[in-house]
Amino acid sequence: QKVGLLFGGKSTEHQVSLQSAKSVYEAIDKDKYDVLLIGIDKNGNWNLYNNLDTCLLNINNPNKIALRKSDKRLAFFPGKKRYSLFEWPSAAPFGKIDVIFPLVHGGTGEDGSMQGLLQLADIPFVGPGVLSSAVCMDKDIAKRLLRDAGLSVAHSFTFTREMKNTIQFNKLKAKLGTPLFIKPADQGSSVGISQVETANEFYQGVNQAFHYTNKIIVEETIAGRELECAVLGNDFPIASLPGEVSKKQSFYSYEAKYINEDGAQLMIPADLNDSTIQKIKKEAVKAFKALHGEGMARVDFFLTKENRLVINEINTLPGFTNRSMYPKLWEASGLSTRELINTLIQLALE
Ligand code: DAL
Ligand code: MG
Repeated sequence: QKVGLLFGGKSTEHQVSLQSAKSVYEAIDKDKYDVLLIGIDKNGNWNLYNNLDTCLLNINNPNKIALRKSDKRLAFFPGKKRYSLFEWPSAAPFGKIDVIFPLVHGGTGEDGSMQGLLQLADIPFVGPGVLSSAVCMDKDIAKRLLRDAGLSVAHSFTFTREMKNTIQFNKLKAKLGTPLFIKPADQGSSVGISQVETANEFYQGVNQAFHYTNKIIVEETIAGRELECAVLGNDFPIASLPGEVSKKQSFYSYEAKYINEDGAQLMIPADLNDSTIQKIKKEAVKAFKALHGEGMARVDFFLTKENRLVINEINTLPGFTNRSMYPKLWEASGLSTRELINTLIQLALE
């Protein structure tokens, strides 16, 4: 079967996506699957690569280092020759693709846009469809649906750009306490997030978050352990053992996730008693179903001292980098990354 690995993209998580693609490419069963490397550069150009290492070096450098002869500019969108959306993918220079494994984290790769494009092009793909992708990418909408399903989420207030001048630190502090989290509603990998104590920090944080998006949430800080659980499946999803993030900084920032080697330590599986493990698995599956999950998702929780579970968020295109929880949680649960990728592809073809 021909599998298109789709990665890169214009979002703030471009670099994370390249690392996810590298891990998936290394682990995928190449005897079983014929893998096509489709990399989207930061300008949105789609390129077909023959070799992952040159791709990772060249993807944002097409002028300095020419694409290898065997690497082709696909030019679906910007570029010299444009194919219309409805010619795609028949006009693309790679024939029929059986399934796409989208690893474009964030932005239009994860918010349902890409999923809609693939659906229109009639290509099966790994992960959820338009609806689940869209709601999970929006922390404000996802919270409302989780709450409606009886799941616990942190209290927060949502502000659009038009409301920016009405946002008042003192009022929010009175309602939510400090420290406060300020988050762009629709980014991943902690991009644009800050945790603040003072009015000064707060307004800076608000400006920073609006730099990335038009909608932000201001959220109470839940004191507790940070736990993550991986979900896999379509109609009958299963949950992995939970893992724990133990961090040195105040929160699990982009730097702690991907840059600073000892910014965070992952404990896999997390040291928890059996009833808590079962409760987390059950709630992860419940959240997955409430948000119309398909294929995969990683559900992130806080566990308070009083043993209360609070869902932080759901990620429908969880990181696959060598520092990412999703594949590691499955490994700890007895499913190798190779088998995991195989299962995800078969779920996409169901
Ligand atoms: N958004 C990043 C890739 C994650 O959830 O792992
Ligand atoms: Mg996220």
